Amino acid sequence: MNEHELLKDIKLGVATASLQIEGGDRNNSWYDWCEAGKIPNGDHCIIANDHWNRAAQDIELMKDLHLDTYRMSLEWSRIEPREGQFDQSAIQHYRTELLALKAAGIEPLVTLHHFSNPTWFESDGAWMDAKCIDRFLKFVEIAVLNFGDIVTEWTTINEPNVYLFMGYVDGDFPPGVKGDIRAFLKGAKHMSIAHCKAYELIHSRVKEKFNLTPRVGAAVHVRVFDAFRNTLLERLACHLYYRLFQEIFLDAMIAGKSSRFLGLGSSIRPGRYSDFIGINYYSRDILKGKWDPANLFAERLLQDNAKTNDLKWEIYPEGLGRLIRKYYEQFGLPIYITENGTADASDAFRQEYIKSHLEQILSCKAQQIPVERYYYWTLMDNFEWMEGYDARFGLIAHQVESQSRKIRESGKYYATVCRDRRL
Ligand code: BGC
Repeated sequence: MNEHELLKDIKLGVATASLQIEGGDRNNSWYDWCEAGKIPNGDHCIIANDHWNRAAQDIELMKDLHLDTYRMSLEWSRIEPREGQFDQSAIQHYRTELLALKAAGIEPLVTLHHFSNPTWFESDGAWMDAKCIDRFLKFVEIAVLNFGDIVTEWTTINEPNVYLFMGYVDGDFPPGVKGDIRAFLKGAKHMSIAHCKAYELIHSRVKEKFNLTPRVGAAVHVRVFDAFRNTLLERLACHLYYRLFQEIFLDAMIAGKSSRFLGLGSSIRPGRYSDFIGINYYSRDILKGKWDPANLFAERLLQDNAKTNDLKWEIYPEGLGRLIRKYYEQFGLPIYITENGTADASDAFRQEYIKSHLEQILSCKAQQIPVERYYYWTLMDNFEWMEGYDARFGLIAHQVESQSRKIRESGKYYATVCRDRRL
């Protein structure tokens, strides 16, 4: 197959998350985090892109980009503002948005948890309390019964590894705990079990109620970890980083497999719990060996002379190809690139970033690896968690004050790729 045929054979889209674009919701953990002044430059997620009121306008922009598909998330705190109370008007709002997408010829991929928690859930232990699994499943069931006729593709949990690392090890996300590896592992266990059970629940409810067969997976943040000098200590560090940061999650959420670090207990048996391998890929880390068990025997560095983005993340497209091959070989399922993108306020290198990452995908496809979706992160500049509004990942430039939206040159490039299927 040539480039054109390979590109025809993949659905192209963009990804967003509700908390980062909707604005206006006060019932979630990130609202409280912003209120507590935790975003370094004082930015606040209550504003964001006002997408809650501008969904129709944003879908028009998606049409201009010629997208096949759109990955979005449902804000749990809007649908279940208090435990057990479900807000019909929020449900109706999302139905309207989803139907408008379908009418525009854009297939939704819906994420059920993307970093933010309802306040009632956060204040009662969030993902540390064993009740979290049943609580999440109750919400999943309501979502599936209300949207399962429109949505046939789901991601249960976005980047459980980043959510837990940032919230319990790094401390930059709520609840702001630092250095608690045990909490990281406890959350990993709960989120993995919640994913596996949600996988089964979504399949069974959608079949019963709508006689449809959905596709369900998770979206795990995967990185490349390379050794600085290839010493024994560095090889050990790379192994530990791969295992602990991402592979315990992939094993559990795709194959129901426990590991030395993560006892899933008796509630999940090994089996199949994903219909695709959902990969969010951005960058790599170079690990320099250091006798420091607390940091898994390494410090994380940038490659010498690395090309970097505005956040000083290395731009390393080959890493995407390496990880696709590695995880396809391991799990043998279709691959969805559920996120890939870069912060580039001046729009100087985003086009090349997209092109070089899509080239990696095409080379994998040419080797018969079924990469079936690609979602650029993200549609428009948004509330980038602890970076506030400074990090600009958008195909569309967005100004918070004026709420203006303008497609960037790189956005026009991506629109052409989506329309013409040529890089
Ligand atoms: C997250 C997004 C985030 C993006 C860029 C991913 O880790 O899923 O929500 O905005 O990275 O930082």
